[in-house]
Amino acid sequence: MSPLFSSLFLVFSFISPILVSADRQDPHNVVLEVQRSLNKSRRNLGSLSCEIGNPIDDCWRCDPDWDKNRQRLADCAIGFGKDAVGGKHGEIYVVTDSSDDDAVNPKEGTLRYGVIQDEPLWIIFERDMVIKLKEELIMNSFKTIDGRGASVHIAGGPCITIQYVTNIIIHGINIHDCKPAGNALVRSSPEHFGYRTMCDGDGVSVFGGSHVWVDHCTLSNCADGLIDVIMGSTAITLSNNYMTKHDKAILLGHNDSYEKDKNMQVTVAFNHFGEGLVQRMPRCRHGYIHVVNNDYTEWGMYAIGGSANPTIKSQGNRFLASDNRNSKEVTKHEGAPKSEWKNWDWSSEGDLMLNGAYFVESGVGARSSYVKASSVEARPSSDVSIITANAGALACRIGARC
Ligand SMILES: *[C@@H]1O[C@H](CO)[C@@H](O)[C@H](O)[C@H]1NC(C)=O
Repeated sequence: MSPLFSSLFLVFSFISPILVSADRQDPHNVVLEVQRSLNKSRRNLGSLSCEIGNPIDDCWRCDPDWDKNRQRLADCAIGFGKDAVGGKHGEIYVVTDSSDDDAVNPKEGTLRYGVIQDEPLWIIFERDMVIKLKEELIMNSFKTIDGRGASVHIAGGPCITIQYVTNIIIHGINIHDCKPAGNALVRSSPEHFGYRTMCDGDGVSVFGGSHVWVDHCTLSNCADGLIDVIMGSTAITLSNNYMTKHDKAILLGHNDSYEKDKNMQVTVAFNHFGEGLVQRMPRCRHGYIHVVNNDYTEWGMYAIGGSANPTIKSQGNRFLASDNRNSKEVTKHEGAPKSEWKNWDWSSEGDLMLNGAYFVESGVGARSSYVKASSVEARPSSDVSIITANAGALACRIGARC
């Protein structure tokens, strides 16, 4: 195959999940749209480049030696969480044991043993594995969980807790069917274990955490939220994730009266919000939320909403409404009468609205200073299908481009 055709072929094989889930669009038109945006990114990036206009992926995925340069990923973050270094400069820790029999004295080789350590660690997986945790995985600071090169599922038990720690990268993990657990002792560092009350069964719970980056994860069907960011957490980027089959996807902000979340800054970029999602993509309280170049192919109630005067900037997203007349609105202003929420700064810029989708703007719009601070320049919404075509955990093979 000529290089042109082989790269076209690659792109088409990557986008097949979108072709399936965007069933209300004429597939032929979707293909034409992809061709157009592909040609456009080619023009922008130079011909036959591996780059697709996704600044995170373009930073590392063209490297066939990604496995030898794993920590390069830490330089590729964008958005408010861009300084999350994870386990950069730390040793590689290889998970060889998928068990989690003892949450107080975890065995060496388990995921839990790695995440509680005090020093920076870059955690990878020896082989494909399903890890059914016994209790929440309470992470210590300066850790990367890097699922590239294996198919890793954290599923069927409680999942990931990032509580009062910093500098966490979670990349390339399938997180699903998370369940509540607790009323048990759980270790959080080599020096400390403590009694945990019940956890809700979130996929990833960030509680008073900062500098956190969740990238290329596949999340679905948890007992509570897929990702919760609460209790004064900030400097967070949620990118390239693929979320499906869940009611309340992402919560940003603890409750309406929790003032510490006023400083919260979160970037939600290049994610695919897909089939079976109902609401909260995200639901925001207080804080500054930049929602950029995401693909929304299903929401049952609303996509972006919130209460307590959050500032929301929606840029370059693609919103495909369902055929249900009652769920065309992207937004939902909650917990206050219109006389109040009309002053909340929610704005939409360059979003692509399909099948009757509409965004109700309010306030004077987000201040440009904070959008700049988020550091993500929105690409045109026509590029969203290509930018998000590989959202979720990637199937990377060692020795080849991922
Ligand atoms: C909000 O959360 C804080 C901290 O958990 C709690 O003390 C407070 O009672 C909550 N407020 C409401 C209205 O639920």
